[in-house]
Amino acid sequence: MVKILMHGCNGKMGRIITELVKNDENAEIVAGVDTYTQVPNDYPVFDSLDKCNVEADVVVDFSTAAAMDALLDYCAAKKVPVVLCSTGLSQEQLEKVKETSEKTAVLKSANMSLGINLLLKLLQNAAKVLAPAGYDIELVEKHHNQKLDAPSGTALALADSINEALGGEYHYVYDRSQVRQKRDKKEIGISALRGGTIVGEHEVLFAGTDEVIEFKHTAYSRSVFGKGAIEAAKFLAGKEPGMYDMSDVIQL
Ligand SMILES: NC(=O)c1ccc[n+]([C@@H]2O[C@H](COP(=O)([O-])OP(=O)(O)OC[C@H]3O[C@@H](n4cnc5c(N)ncnc54)[C@H](O)[C@@H]3O)[C@@H](O)[C@H]2O)c1
Repeated sequence: MVKILMHGCNGKMGRIITELVKNDENAEIVAGVDTYTQVPNDYPVFDSLDKCNVEADVVVDFSTAAAMDALLDYCAAKKVPVVLCSTGLSQEQLEKVKETSEKTAVLKSANMSLGINLLLKLLQNAAKVLAPAGYDIELVEKHHNQKLDAPSGTALALADSINEALGGEYHYVYDRSQVRQKRDKKEIGISALRGGTIVGEHEVLFAGTDEVIEFKHTAYSRSVFGKGAIEAAKFLAGKEPGMYDMSDVIQL
């Protein structure tokens, strides 16, 4: 049974994970930390990490970038592995994540879903075959109307994965309205749509002559991220210090 400390336990993702873990025989939340404490929980909740006196095998974090420094200090001092899911970390914080990974195991991923992480791998294979054969690569992502950033971090991660497989020679184009010219062969077009309550759609098109191959991932609820985070926590508990990502969890 893996004992989880849920950091950001009363947020949207924290609550989803709390419900998922209730039905998981191999995991248990032993404590939560959240600055907002007005949610009834079956486990003790502390309003700061300093006050938390419960031992855990692993921390799962879905909080905010502002909470990162204190969290990383805590995990390094306690030598407790951490699954970092909060997004929007600064360059300095990313450096601190690396330093922390010298003292304890850190798994960081901008998208915890199994499907997206599988797609990251599949796209590399497709790109290696299709790009040299002259196929154009376009990416379309759709999200709800409350999302602030565009394109999504996941869209960029998909494009980076493709670009890495192609030797880093491609550049990204986000807006075609300002320049009247044909697309370059070595570009990946990235388009972002915003509306309603769309949880998250990512579609990658390889468009060739008389043929289009499409890869599409649709998230219907946020629980896909929660499930991935719990699997990551089970994987990371007891691991040696170092940086890990979801590709270590998903064995292909
Ligand atoms: N990696 C992924 O797959 C993935 C998926 C969904 C969301 N996210 C990211 O996870 C984070 C949380 O998402 P959410 O939708 O649950 O947000 P949310 O705003 O609903 O929840 C965040 C929670 O963190 C708490 N919090 C704030 N400061 C804190 C602190 N100093 N210590 C402890 N808790 C603190 C808040 O009170 C809140 O309850 C965001 O950065 C989001 O972008 C990542």
